Amino acid sequence: MTKTVLVTGGAGFIGSAVVRQLIAETDWRVINVDKLTYAGNLESLPGLLGDPRHVFEKVDICDAKEVGRLFRDHAPSAVMHLAAESHVDRSIDGPAAFVETNIVGTYTMLEAARNHWDALQNDARESFRFHHVSTDEVYGSLGDEGLFTEETAYAPNSPYSASKAASDHLVRAWHHTYGLPVVTSNCSNNYGPFHFPEKLIPLVILNALTGKPLPIYGKGDNVRDWLYVEDHARALRLVMEKGNVGERYNIGAHSERTNLEVVQAVCSLLDELAPESPYRPHAQLITWVKDRPGHDQRYAIDASKIERELGWKPQETFASGLRKTVEWYLANQGWVHNVTSGAYRAWMSARYGT
Ligand code: NAD
Ligand code: TYD
Repeated sequence: MTKTVLVTGGAGFIGSAVVRQLIAETDWRVINVDKLTYAGNLESLPGLLGDPRHVFEKVDICDAKEVGRLFRDHAPSAVMHLAAESHVDRSIDGPAAFVETNIVGTYTMLEAARNHWDALQNDARESFRFHHVSTDEVYGSLGDEGLFTEETAYAPNSPYSASKAASDHLVRAWHHTYGLPVVTSNCSNNYGPFHFPEKLIPLVILNALTGKPLPIYGKGDNVRDWLYVEDHARALRLVMEKGNVGERYNIGAHSERTNLEVVQAVCSLLDELAPESPYRPHAQLITWVKDRPGHDQRYAIDASKIERELGWKPQETFASGLRKTVEWYLANQGWVHNVTSGAYRAWMSARYGT
């Protein structure tokens, strides 16, 4: 029987990469559950709205009644839970939505999954999985040395990472207390196509192309460990299918860069790939701005467990992935225009309600 996977947050940056990959590379049915917040964009699923194996459900994961209906209507054999509020700066300005979606929403998903799983029998019960997608930010901040392993103690510092840490703990507890077959993954910073331009890399690409300042927080020496989004999506499928129940897997590509290095790399690529741009050399647009409060200094992932146990390896280096990303933004000005003008929200709310 064809597998049915319920993906939450499938209109977001990483969720849409997961959905595109599942439809392209498997014969599974995908139930895409998304509230369509500002970060949800159905234009990130080109060609999939009419696909019979892709069912879009505009649902808030905090709405227990609707979430219960989804499980009854679609009887999923697995859940990949990505829906979240995801931007650290927004969590500092307004933490309430992060507590609501990331903590209450995950609780609501866990309870609905538990009710569904409790009623399953034999193979269907044995093979059901609840895959919780989380971040390396739950581990806090590193100094110059060391890597986050699966054993690193949680020490979240921002409202975003604290809400994700809380959701990870709920997932762990639902396994230990109720036996729900869960698996969790904690990934480093992603980048790639369809990334909402409030995050560093797409923001810098689009600002540079329009001659706007490229804001670098503090000294620009904070380090992030960058992973191309398609590599993350492949890792997520492996974790969901092959990961050991009750365990966690760190995901990362050993691509540590300072923020200044990242911005300079984007600028050099744009100098080469957009030779007509009047703003070359784009690095002249770099602007130093006030640091983010509580800004974590360094994230770096030890991904040896997923490499060893599940045979995952990233396909892209930072150089190849960043080149693909810059090329994608240059070639997809329609997507960019609809995001920056807000047009993507207008047609979605006309079709799916606000
Ligand atoms: P995103 O902000 O691009 O997408 C989140 C999606 O969730 C959006 O489509 C949004 O509409 C949806 N959503 C938000 N609230 C919802 C709700 N209440 N009900 C239903 N849908 C809702 O985020 P992303 O970058 O794609 O991240 C996806 C997941 O991966 C998150 O759980 C995030 O914590 C995790 N993660 C992200 C990164 C990263 O670098 N972006 C790294 C590691 C882990
Ligand atoms: P971001 O993409 O927001 O991801 P996160 O905070 O989850 O790591 O930011 C990546 C890094 O870039 C982070 O150290 C903050 C920094 N940053 C800037 O310097 N300028 C910016 O305009 C943004 C959005 C981020």
